[in-house]
Amino acid sequence: MTDSRAKTITSVLQEERSFLPSKEFQARARISSLAQYEELRQEASRDPEAFWAKKAREYLQWQKDFTQVLDWQEPHAKWFGDGQLNASVNCLDRHVEAGRGQKTAILWEGEPGDTRRITYAELLQDVCRFANALKELGIRKGDRVMIYMPMVPETVVAMLACARIGAPHSLVFGGFSAEALASRSNDAKAKLMITADGNYRRGSVVPLKNNVDEALRHAPTIENVIVLQRTGKDQQGTWNKEREHDWHELMQKQSDICPPEELDSEHPLFLLYTSGSTGQPKGILHTTAGYLLGCAYTFAETFDYRDDDVYWCTADVGWVTGHSYVVYGPLANAATVVIYEGAPNYPDPSRFWQIIEKYKVTIFYTAPTAIRSFIKWGDEFVEKQDLSSLRLLGTVGEPINPEAWMWYRQKIGQDRCPIVDTWWQTETGCIMIAPFPGATPTRPGTATRPFFGIEADVVDHDGNPVPDNTGGFLVIKKPWPSMLRTIYGDDERYRKQYWSHIPGMYFTGDGARRDEHGNFWIMGRIDDVLNVSGHRLSTMEIESALVSHSSVAEAAVVGRPDAIKGESIACFVTLEGKTQPTPELKTELIQHVVRHIGALARPDDIRFTESLPKTRSGKIMRRLLRDIAAGRQSNGDMTTLEDFSVLERLRHSEEQESV
Ligand code: PRX
Repeated sequence: MTDSRAKTITSVLQEERSFLPSKEFQARARISSLAQYEELRQEASRDPEAFWAKKAREYLQWQKDFTQVLDWQEPHAKWFGDGQLNASVNCLDRHVEAGRGQKTAILWEGEPGDTRRITYAELLQDVCRFANALKELGIRKGDRVMIYMPMVPETVVAMLACARIGAPHSLVFGGFSAEALASRSNDAKAKLMITADGNYRRGSVVPLKNNVDEALRHAPTIENVIVLQRTGKDQQGTWNKEREHDWHELMQKQSDICPPEELDSEHPLFLLYTSGSTGQPKGILHTTAGYLLGCAYTFAETFDYRDDDVYWCTADVGWVTGHSYVVYGPLANAATVVIYEGAPNYPDPSRFWQIIEKYKVTIFYTAPTAIRSFIKWGDEFVEKQDLSSLRLLGTVGEPINPEAWMWYRQKIGQDRCPIVDTWWQTETGCIMIAPFPGATPTRPGTATRPFFGIEADVVDHDGNPVPDNTGGFLVIKKPWPSMLRTIYGDDERYRKQYWSHIPGMYFTGDGARRDEHGNFWIMGRIDDVLNVSGHRLSTMEIESALVSHSSVAEAAVVGRPDAIKGESIACFVTLEGKTQPTPELKTELIQHVVRHIGALARPDDIRFTESLPKTRSGKIMRRLLRDIAAGRQSNGDMTTLEDFSVLERLRHSEEQESV
């Protein structure tokens, strides 16, 4: 981990433009002035437990009320410990019981243009049937279920059905390879896999089932597979009838009544694997009550949610943003959610804007990398569409550069919509730093201030707050309800990763600075984690994939600034023995990484080198490699570099590259 990167970025992020919400927006906003914001902020920070307890009763329906709020034995939190509830009841039953069964829950748009509108009553029915199907296959409270599914309503059904019977789900994004799926399944010791034959992406069929077939050869704990026929392109004839079940056939036989399990607040809701600074992905564990409260409350306030909103978050449900802000947060608020299966530029780059026009979307939440792609594709694709329904925009996943922020505001928001830049992580469960759109002045490039009850700070190595406008480590100083509870099966790693860097504080792994107005400017990761198109990837994981190839002796992977993706993947590779660097080998190594991890980890650049720059103690000097990858002169401290000639040879390789 280095903080030199945090320091160098400090000087770049200077932004004086500031935007206030329009009078019209403010007049109808839930939190409509800084005074109101300040009052709530103070209430939350005076007595966080009383504040969260109040919100937990306001936002959630309890089967058994709680008497304890927080039990904090650092680093383990129990929130609302003796309460009981069910997440699917909170997302479905209570709305239907309140007479909202006919409200649209999901507006689904398939890539080829097929559509479905699903009400809360219908979604509840499907969830009950599917929960009964899970039970028929022997899934019981506590069993882990893998979900490797496309962006179809059935994915939401599968998640909520798991929640209904208390079986923690673990989604794996469809861009991960068979090998990545198998290793996650093995780590979770999952009993069941839910998948689809495939899905549509840019006009072709992505064969998900093939990956599952391959994964299952190495995933011995999986007893059964449920396959949704989305494309009908997969031949059922090849299925193993003993353990592979057709979604619709299974559903047909089930009752649409399934009493929900009454689950303890701390019952595990899901595991979600994410990259850390070591090779092995971490199974982030979230539990029921605290997580759901975080999602429900932040969804309502950060998106200034109103009952008549049509809300669209473009994230895939396989990522945490999809969990919290496609599924649990919006559905807990009885929102109408748009889900789109395909790519933003298929059949042409106006597809997103057409969808906004068609469904009269009012709140739109996406990633900076998508915004930068739209800028590249050209304004004409935006200008054709009527975007007047929009009233609020959001971004997530990576720092947004001021140019992209301004374009988003002007072209998509037509200078009318506030932008909420939301900082959070898989581990935090829900939004931690973001504007309250009716109150907070926004600036391009800052997620502004912490949410109520969140004690964020920027500190030095010893945990002392750094002065304003100085780079440091972003930390959270008090437990919050939706925090991760542990790393599944590896509590020691949980302690080490998040609680050992600075005693008493949750260590986010991000660098940040705070300005004189209290705004947080996130500078990106200070550990060996890359953020490629808003996807989190571990350099170590890619390195392990590379060195598992028989031709590779050593590999070092670093991020290189990229105008669209934020960061791209640059690999420095030394070869075994007499192996010669060739363009064919380069292609093979790229394929090798894709096979091991998935297409999302495809290296953008592979450079062969005779040796890697190392310190005298043998540590690879990534800072130097980052400079070389970015084509910058290194001006940092090089006194510990073992062999200066290595640097020269690497620079030389840059001229010869790309082979
Ligand atoms: O570096 C931060 C960046 O994404 C990381 C978390 O990645 P992940 O767990 O995959 O969750 C992404 C979606 C919540 C963070 O450590 N990040 C996320 N949001 C922002 C951000 N960086 C800057 N600004 C943001 N708004």
